[in-house]
Amino acid sequence: MRIAVCPGSFDPVTKGHLDIIERASRLFDKVIVLVSFNPSKRTTAAFTIEERMKLIMRVTEGMENVLVDCNSGLLADYLEQTGACAIVKGLRAVSDFEYEFQMALANKKLYPKAETVFLTTSTENMYLSSSVVKEIASLGGDISGFVPPEILDDIKERLFLKDHK
Ligand code: PNS
Repeated sequence: MRIAVCPGSFDPVTKGHLDIIERASRLFDKVIVLVSFNPSKRTTAAFTIEERMKLIMRVTEGMENVLVDCNSGLLADYLEQTGACAIVKGLRAVSDFEYEFQMALANKKLYPKAETVFLTTSTENMYLSSSVVKEIASLGGDISGFVPPEILDDIKERLFLKDHK
């Protein structure tokens, strides 16, 4: 069985993430969406790990070979434990490339049995990120084009800063 892992912060999951997960699910037998720890985003989280997992579970409900998990350690160790053969990541623009390339090389060094596979983001999601969603939602902007409809209200409720000036 060919298992792929889609790691990320997913704080929160966006339509861009969902597009990558859905396309990965057609390429691999099983896809694990892994809510992972990113040390550089430690202080900016809007949702807990459990909340993020639940949001992803809701939007991937119809995808039979997709499951959701979390990991607070190294991705390379998780790949080894699960026998995954690939890390799937979405690549939006040149600005993503250097960081993603560095992570792909580091993961290859730590766990040579897995490959990093980059899927180019669909053009409508080129500019999309969880940070952009969080900023727009916090200021009361319309994020319906950016996040799956099933979780729109949860995100609006959590992020809207009612007293922003
Ligand atoms: O969505 P993000 O925040 O860009 O995803 C980055 C993430 C979580 C995939 C990355 O920080 C990660 O893999 N964290 C797990 C810890 C780890 O293995 N770090 C070394 C990566 S080379």
